[in-house]
Amino acid sequence: MYNKMKNQRISTNLLMMLFILVSSVMISSATFAQKSKSKVPAAPALTSAGVTAADIASALDEAYNKFVDVKEGKNADYIKELANVDPKIFGIALVTTDGQVFTKGDIASMVSIQSVSKAFVAAQVIEESGHQALMDKIGVDATGLKFNSIVAVEEHRGKEINPLVNPGAIAATSMVFGADSAAKWKSILSKHSEFAGRQLALNMPVYISEAGDNLRNQAIAHLLLAYGRMYFDPAQATDIYTKQCAINVSAKDLAVMASTLANGGVNPVTKKKVVSPETVMYTLPVLATAGLYDDSGIWFYNSGLPAKSGVGGGIMAVCPGKFGIAVVSPPLDEAGNSVKAQLAIKYIVEKLKADPYLIQPK
Ligand code: DON
Repeated sequence: MYNKMKNQRISTNLLMMLFILVSSVMISSATFAQKSKSKVPAAPALTSAGVTAADIASALDEAYNKFVDVKEGKNADYIKELANVDPKIFGIALVTTDGQVFTKGDIASMVSIQSVSKAFVAAQVIEESGHQALMDKIGVDATGLKFNSIVAVEEHRGKEINPLVNPGAIAATSMVFGADSAAKWKSILSKHSEFAGRQLALNMPVYISEAGDNLRNQAIAHLLLAYGRMYFDPAQATDIYTKQCAINVSAKDLAVMASTLANGGVNPVTKKKVVSPETVMYTLPVLATAGLYDDSGIWFYNSGLPAKSGVGGGIMAVCPGKFGIAVVSPPLDEAGNSVKAQLAIKYIVEKLKADPYLIQPK
């Protein structure tokens, strides 16, 4: 009897010891997991480069502090309302393809999306009509001329252009599915909102300001019509195009939009499919060749990333399979690209070793 009791006590003690041992191991491994959390790669796709969430956050911090006081550049003023935007706005956002959002600086302020919208309308046209239709009806060539060049349209009779310069962009807007002007606009705004993962809205003062002073774009649209390269009423197509350029976005919105492209067309935050992987496959090369107008070559040389700029001061860049990044800062250089956005994105891409052409030999 005594022996039985003794054996029972021994086994109870053993069980207790085992329990304490197991729980202490569990506690210490939980603490370890917590401690090492910042060492966990931020996105599976960034693992190979050994990039952590802490690395991304500090790259954004450093870029912000390094460039916040840059005084170069000037707000666009050919659209009068853009001259009134606070030139000090400076927001940086990076969204990984697994949906992690990193931000620094002014994320609350909105600017008009302007030409960045051309990337999403191009994607919408590819999605709706196929990549061959975009190629045949608009073109995917860099013109080597200014973004609103009429000379380019005249010289090639509306060909040899692409959907990221004004003529091709207005033609792309004219191709968007919809029975009338209102339906096309509704569809463009809703597609942009799906890319951003929230309902976007029109910046009315910017739209009114540009719509009232838009003869050049109207002329381009009519010239394209003369060459059979405009696919809806030219006046109405220009008006919808002007509205699409006046959609309000923050740096975070643009980064989510860019990350949706980086993620093969599925918004990494809402997890909703916006366009197909094939549409992204045909959209990104156009961004690579013509996203920053006359300076597209310099940009691509320096960053290796397809990107798109707008005269509102936003630039978004796409690191395929890894992340989307965007910066908003209104002062522009001569080519019409945000000075601080170019500097900050380039700095962060370098810090994270994210240039896809930086290949480490095996
Ligand atoms: O049509 C325009 O001129 C403007 N709504 C958009 C131009 C633009 O954003 C060029 N960007 N760098």
